Amino acid sequence: MNRGDQGLPDSASTDAQSPAPYRDPGRAPSWFGDRIALGAVLAPMAGYSDAPFRRLAHHFGAAWAVSEMVSAKALSLGGHDEPNLRISAPYLDEPHAVIQLFAAEPDLAAEAVAALEQRYHPAAFDLNLGCPVRKVVNRGCGSELLRDPRRAAAIVAAMVAATRVPVSAKLRLGVDRDVAVEVAQALEQAGVAALAVHGRTARQRYGGEADWDAIARVADAVRVPVLGSGDVADAAGYADARSRGLGVMVARAAIGRPWLFALLRGEPLPCRAGMVTVLWRHARDHVAWYGGPRPLRRLRGQLEAYARALAEAPGPALDVDALRAALVRVDTLADLALALRLHAGSAAHADPERLGDTWQRFARAPRIARRSRLAAAPGPN
Ligand SMILES: Cc1cc2nc3c(=O)[nH]c(=O)nc-3n(C[C@H](O)[C@H](O)[C@H](O)COP(=O)(O)O)c2cc1C
Repeated sequence: MNRGDQGLPDSASTDAQSPAPYRDPGRAPSWFGDRIALGAVLAPMAGYSDAPFRRLAHHFGAAWAVSEMVSAKALSLGGHDEPNLRISAPYLDEPHAVIQLFAAEPDLAAEAVAALEQRYHPAAFDLNLGCPVRKVVNRGCGSELLRDPRRAAAIVAAMVAATRVPVSAKLRLGVDRDVAVEVAQALEQAGVAALAVHGRTARQRYGGEADWDAIARVADAVRVPVLGSGDVADAAGYADARSRGLGVMVARAAIGRPWLFALLRGEPLPCRAGMVTVLWRHARDHVAWYGGPRPLRRLRGQLEAYARALAEAPGPALDVDALRAALVRVDTLADLALALRLHAGSAAHADPERLGDTWQRFARAPRIARRSRLAAAPGPN
């Protein structure tokens, strides 16, 4: 697999690769603070924010992209076995790789950070303090740590001591009530360099709306940069959060719409042929990254989301149900090419090596600001 950005045509977003000197005078200087103004961040998403997806997010201007969470304990017990290392592996030349860990013990977190830094040289590490999934919480990890800010702070302190790169943490507001300010201040004392706050409690899962006032209260209470997470799906939502001085993480709305990072910065919606090209690139990178006899199985959920996005794009009517039904059955690139030819009305994917001009059309397609239906879908975290 060509895991670098070679071969990908230029996007107006590439300035995100070379940070403009920006500093919020009210905040402690940090690598995160320097990048926050460059664009939205791809949030960590188990099962989604893997190397192929992060590569597209970077291409469209994500300020950084956080890996899927990897278990510090599993890394330790498994002797840094291949599947766990693979979860956190950056693609070749990945810019600004940020690896998320979940951990309950400071010493294991420190060990994992030291080993991953030596192997992958990431730009930063992130600690998960938000995952409400039972198998994570039962091990004292994820959102369970919000019950015990001292323990959470001890883990952060151990990570900070074990690495030369900055450490961030991503939390929910609390388990069943808002304790985010207290936790955030404890983490700041422990040396955290940035905080991302999903504006819901663990009990809420994805119910209701994310509470951005609660996120802003955290930002008021600490000096490190704070990013908000929850329900941002369009340029208006992004601008609103930025106007509060907050960084922005996006998760669900970017699934099947990696060009969202460009839309949030005011760039136009790609035309349908452009979207097909992005989808094809994603699938090709996915196959190269994972291999195996049925390499696209794991991508089916995202392909379904791409189908919805294609239906939203300007162009002739498209039978989205037929396209979705075909995409959720694909195993291989050949299956995918056939599904697209039959149901997406585009032959662009037929010769993916010669698609340079399709990317150029991104800049000329009219913009439609519509919220992805996926943004309302519940996720595991
Ligand atoms: C499928 C899925 C997987 C997720 N996995 C993680 C994870 O591994 N670590 C984490 O901190 N948050 C995880 N999250 C939470 C998101 O990062 C984000 O905070 C949340 O989805 C709210 O943002 P959104 O409204 O933009 O989706 C996950 C969310 C989803 C939907």
